[in-house]
Amino acid sequence: MTASAPMEKLGQALRRNALVRIVEQFGRDHPDAHLKDLVIDEAGPGRRIVVEGRRLINFGSDSFLGLDQDPRVQESIRRGLSRWGTHNGASRAFASVRANVEAEEKLADWLGLESVLILPSVMLANLGAIPGLVGRQDAIAMDEQAHSSMQEAAKIARANGAKVATFAHSDPEALEQTLRSLRPYRSAIVCIDGVYSMSGRIPPMAELDAVARAADAVLYIDDAHGTGVLGEQGRGTVLEALGSYENTFVVGSLSKAFSCAGGFIGCPEPFHRLLKIRCAPYVFGGPVVPPYLEAIGTVIEILRSDEYPRLRARLDAAIRRLIGGLTDLGLVVMGAVTPIVSVLIGDEADTLNAGKFLFDRGYYVQSVLFPAVPYHSGVLRIQCNANHDEAEIEGLIEAFAALAHHMKLPRRDGSSASSRPHDGESMAPKRG
Ligand SMILES: Cc1ncc(COP(=O)(O)O)c(C=O)c1O
Repeated sequence: MTASAPMEKLGQALRRNALVRIVEQFGRDHPDAHLKDLVIDEAGPGRRIVVEGRRLINFGSDSFLGLDQDPRVQESIRRGLSRWGTHNGASRAFASVRANVEAEEKLADWLGLESVLILPSVMLANLGAIPGLVGRQDAIAMDEQAHSSMQEAAKIARANGAKVATFAHSDPEALEQTLRSLRPYRSAIVCIDGVYSMSGRIPPMAELDAVARAADAVLYIDDAHGTGVLGEQGRGTVLEALGSYENTFVVGSLSKAFSCAGGFIGCPEPFHRLLKIRCAPYVFGGPVVPPYLEAIGTVIEILRSDEYPRLRARLDAAIRRLIGGLTDLGLVVMGAVTPIVSVLIGDEADTLNAGKFLFDRGYYVQSVLFPAVPYHSGVLRIQCNANHDEAEIEGLIEAFAALAHHMKLPRRDGSSASSRPHDGESMAPKRG
């Protein structure tokens, strides 16, 4: 089909966009190593996958506890399908299936929250709730490394008239100054991640909360990577750090460790109704499809049982062994507490080639480049799962040893053997 002249013009204009140019250039320069947009032809058992006819161990899955493969979770999705059919049939502003209300109640009860509102994804939860919470007399202070979904949401809020400013990553003093610079405001929200998804780091939540409260501001924490896998019963990072949700909106994911689908906003009861009115994706978009809502209760039962500590222990052993093995190789390893372990590579081409090197040895890890991390701060991001077995972890460490032999990589002792010298901290990933 030939594109119309206006369509041609639009495509040309898009190709001048900086991000499009960068991505397309990477694709042209490294067609072999550009492992983006992969198609997985077979999945399972465990974390085995087949891509382009190659058998690989997948270290790029967010299903940290391996619940995507759990027969009980799969069975509840089947049950939901026969009970509710394939879709909701309308925006929830008109009607929701009972499974949706029940899933929200179960989530709230498990988390110890007054109420929870489920949306089709965390991206949509943030895009809806952040602009929904603030107006023309209000302000948003955003961690400079906050997830892209919150940064995009802040653009909408700014277009609607809210004041927006960023503060230095996880820095309470910088937050204090930023909030001061935003004054006067009627209300303010402070947007941070519960776990920074590119580095696996957790922010100093209690300090940030103290600064926020002193400045009459509320925390908005996107805990997508903490939900279901960190904290007691997998309740995430927030309750553990703050002891209560008093001054916090908590956003969680149902499609990472939870292995279902969707995202949610945890809030005090009155906000449940207010957000339903103010959150555009809730009103003008469709919800999570019903079968997945049935599975949420099943996952909560697993998290509340003594199976969760067993799954966590298996996952922790894998994380410890992986970090130990990679650290012994002298590599710059980020993360420790969460199942996300990132190895600093630095140069963009090196990062792509390093990912391809591991791919060729049967291990898929994600090569993460600018703009997900700062320029020349590429990382190999490894996601540990409870259903990775010992041999798979050892195999990945061996593949990294071969990589370190094959390629000059930044080293922990600072004697960067890479073509560009790096300082581990300043190279820290930016946002996911
Ligand atoms: C912190 C954070 N927020 C939001 C998202 C997007 O989540 P979803 O896939 O549910 O839109 C991610 C995805 O990785 C994330 O890491």
